[in-house]
Amino acid sequence: MSDNNTKDSRPLRSARWFRKDDLPGFVHRSTLSAVGWSREDLMERPVVGILNTWSDINPCNLNLRTLAEEVRVGILEAGGIPFEAPMMSLSENIIKPSSFPFRNLLSMEAEESIRAYPFDAVVLLGGCDKTQPALLMGAASAGVPFIFLTSGPATPRSATGGNLANATGVWRLVDQLRAGELSEGDFAAFERSVMGTAGHCAEMGTASSMGVICEALGVSLPGSSLVPAADRRRNQIAREVGRRSVRMAIEGSPRPDEVLDARAFDNAITLLCAVGGSTNAIIHLLALAGRVGVPLTLDRFDEIARRVPLIANVQPAGEHLTERLMAAGGVPGLLKTLKPLLHQDARTVDGRTIGEIIEAAEVVDTDVIRALDNPVKSGETMVVVRGNLAPDGAVMKACAADPRLFRHRGPAVVFEDVQTIADQIDNPELGIDENSVLILRNAGPVGAAMPEWGMLPLPRHLMARGVRDMLRISDARMSGTAYGAAVLHVSPEAAIGGPLALVRNGDIIELDVPARRLELCVAPEELERRRQEWQPPASQHKRGYRNLYNRHIEQAHLGCDFDFLRGADEDTLPEGLFDGWVGGW
Ligand code: FES
Repeated sequence: MSDNNTKDSRPLRSARWFRKDDLPGFVHRSTLSAVGWSREDLMERPVVGILNTWSDINPCNLNLRTLAEEVRVGILEAGGIPFEAPMMSLSENIIKPSSFPFRNLLSMEAEESIRAYPFDAVVLLGGCDKTQPALLMGAASAGVPFIFLTSGPATPRSATGGNLANATGVWRLVDQLRAGELSEGDFAAFERSVMGTAGHCAEMGTASSMGVICEALGVSLPGSSLVPAADRRRNQIAREVGRRSVRMAIEGSPRPDEVLDARAFDNAITLLCAVGGSTNAIIHLLALAGRVGVPLTLDRFDEIARRVPLIANVQPAGEHLTERLMAAGGVPGLLKTLKPLLHQDARTVDGRTIGEIIEAAEVVDTDVIRALDNPVKSGETMVVVRGNLAPDGAVMKACAADPRLFRHRGPAVVFEDVQTIADQIDNPELGIDENSVLILRNAGPVGAAMPEWGMLPLPRHLMARGVRDMLRISDARMSGTAYGAAVLHVSPEAAIGGPLALVRNGDIIELDVPARRLELCVAPEELERRRQEWQPPASQHKRGYRNLYNRHIEQAHLGCDFDFLRGADEDTLPEGLFDGWVGGW
């Protein structure tokens, strides 16, 4: 199988392990003979790693064990050798304090696993929110060709009372429960059906957002992201991913930096806006761009958002779940509609350009995938605001907020942490009314590892009066399945002395979305006086990963990567040392 080298005879990366007639070559081959691979197999065939975040504590990724087997079949069919590498699984709703700080840890695990093992290409298997960006970031830094395959959306069931049992439905029912419009019993019935099948959240939450933008980035096969986890077509896709990965392994191409360029990020942001996707994807795209040296900033998101309407009629900004979006044409259909706004010459791991993928695409339901001149809602889907309260920026998912709050002035009600909100939000002595601006601070990347607390609950007495949205501002994130006038990711965060730390109860806050402004209406001298008094919260983390995290985490406007993880290393091994090394002998 000598034709497994590239057309220009570039040797396989794995040859550095297996093709040497020396003691290390002997050790590597004999070690894997225990798995069943012969000397000839290992010397001639391309090796593909399958990085799998399966775990049975993570139902969003529960089908990845099956998909890994299908990928393995595809790799074998194409003449490759598959090796599966288990990765840390980040189960969004279970892991504490939140999944977010572990995104970077998993990215490091993925990067070092790829670099340290003899993989000529890798297949990344993720699903639940943070497993996807973590694997992408790690693989991008490792520099080895990769394809990403998501677990696919779950298939929610109908629950008591006709409520659709999905994550966005949870938020709506919590609102109804707090407003006294839903019984505890009906809410409990909903609990039993909300996670009815394997697969990630089935609306355009963070997992679906990351899944679809992987297609726009060019790192997933076209049409692969929205096929439900329980749909057998996903198994067929997994086999195709396996087969394609072998071709990439043989050719050593496309490398991550050949796909993930500025055009790819523009295309991804365009799609993110068009589907009303998760604000978390902003952070992940910023971090990923940092890994491949693309100078992406928050301003680019705002620029693109101004010209891209909401065309996908999916929750939480629209009506349907992602299965309808798939049936309407999926991501290829969305890209076809967005054609005039895309870089069509961008490369993909499929081997075709985005433009060539568009040529083969169709839209079959124009209620779910709307035309550019017939959007689901008018106005931008997301906005970036700045001002003396957020000098480095903050974001808002405008398409999921009440437009009445786009120009708003109101007095601040400040909460220092999420427990205080839980204890106090319904306290009538706080005097909260619908004009109040709810502030949560110390929930940023350093303060609390940036949990999804940004959709602050509204006081019961206001909900009972029919109030369903209020202006909320925080340095936290918000679930991609949630909604509301929440200004998120305020940067710099309060815990490092950002202006959010200086807000006091009763201060007037002004938001002007059309002008992209967020202002704390307090005199500069008074703010300076408060700044002199401010004391940083003491770090709780004296050792271990969280200590490393707090010392190196970057702010939200930079993507919350570690400062030492920006960029990629060249894929080199120290040849002299490697040749002379006899590990474990
Ligand atoms: Fe895993 Fe939503 S909880 S994707």
